[in-house]
Amino acid sequence: MSLQDLLAVLPAGSPEEALARQVNFDRLPEHVAVIMDGNGRWAAQRHLPRVEGHRAGIESVRDVVEGSARVGIKVLTLYAFSVENWKRPAMEVSTLMALLKRYLRLELNTLLRNNIRFRVIGRPEDLAPDIQRELADAEEKTAANTGMLFNIALNYGGRAEIVEAAKRLLAAGVRPDELDEQRFSGFLYTAGQPDPDLLIRTSGEMRVSNFLLWQIAYAEIWVTETLWPDFRKRHLLEAILAYQKRERRYGGIKQPAVAGR
Ligand code: IPE
Ligand code: IPE
Ligand code: MG
Repeated sequence: MSLQDLLAVLPAGSPEEALARQVNFDRLPEHVAVIMDGNGRWAAQRHLPRVEGHRAGIESVRDVVEGSARVGIKVLTLYAFSVENWKRPAMEVSTLMALLKRYLRLELNTLLRNNIRFRVIGRPEDLAPDIQRELADAEEKTAANTGMLFNIALNYGGRAEIVEAAKRLLAAGVRPDELDEQRFSGFLYTAGQPDPDLLIRTSGEMRVSNFLLWQIAYAEIWVTETLWPDFRKRHLLEAILAYQKRERRYGGIKQPAVAGR
C-alpha cells in the first residue's frame, strides 16, 4: 500500500489529501492500536440514547480500517469491548453485540476484497454462541489473507491477558530458567505480532483502561478530543504525522521514530 492507494479513496483537494502527502511512507508505525472512546458523549451531545453513539461509531470503524490498510499499516487493533464493560446496562451490552454482528455480516466482503486478516483478541468464549460463530466465521474466511492484520479486542482485559498467559505457560511446563520477555510474549493473545508503535485514544481521556498493558510498554501515545463517531481517516493521518515527529528512545539516547526496529 502506498500514497497512490490512499489518494484513491481521498477526495481531490481535501484536507485529508494534504495530510496524506505529508506522510513519510518509509517511517510508518507498524502496529496502530486504538481505544475507541466517546460514543456515549457523542450521543448525549445530540440528546440521543447512548446506543446511537455506538451505531454511529461503526462508520468510523469502517473508515479507519480502510484508511489503515491503504496507508500500509501492518497491524491495526481496535478496542471494542473490555472485560469491565459488562458493568454497563444489559440493553447497551446487547446492542453493542448486535452491532458487532451486523458489522461482521456487512463488512466481511470488504475485508476479503482488501486482503485483510481478521482476528479476535480477548475472551470470545464468554460471548453469546451466535456472536462466537460470527467471529469464528470471519476469522476462518480471512485466515489466508496476507494484507493488514485487523485485531478486534473483544471482552478484552490487559491484566486478564497476562494472567492467562501465565497460566498457559505453566500448563506448557515452561521452567523459570527458560522464561524471558520474548518467551512470555509468545503466550499473549498477540503472540508473533509486533508491539503497537502508536496508541490512539479518542475523546480526551488520559488513561489506558486496561488495554494491551504488556504490549504498549514503548508505544507513542496520541490522545485527541475528537469523539470516536467523529473520527475519520483525517484524524488517523494526523496521528501518524504526530508519531513521525516523535523521537523514540527506548530508554536509550536520541534515535529517529522508525518502526521495524
Ligand atoms: C466507547 O464509547 C465504546 C465502548 C466502550 C464500547 P463509550 O461508550 O465509552 O462512550 P463514553 O466514554 O461514555 O462517551
Ligand atoms: C475503554 O473505554 C474500553 C473500550 C474502548 C472498549 P471505556 O469507556 O470503557 O473506559 P473508561 O471507563 O473511560 O476507562
Ligand atoms: Mg468511555
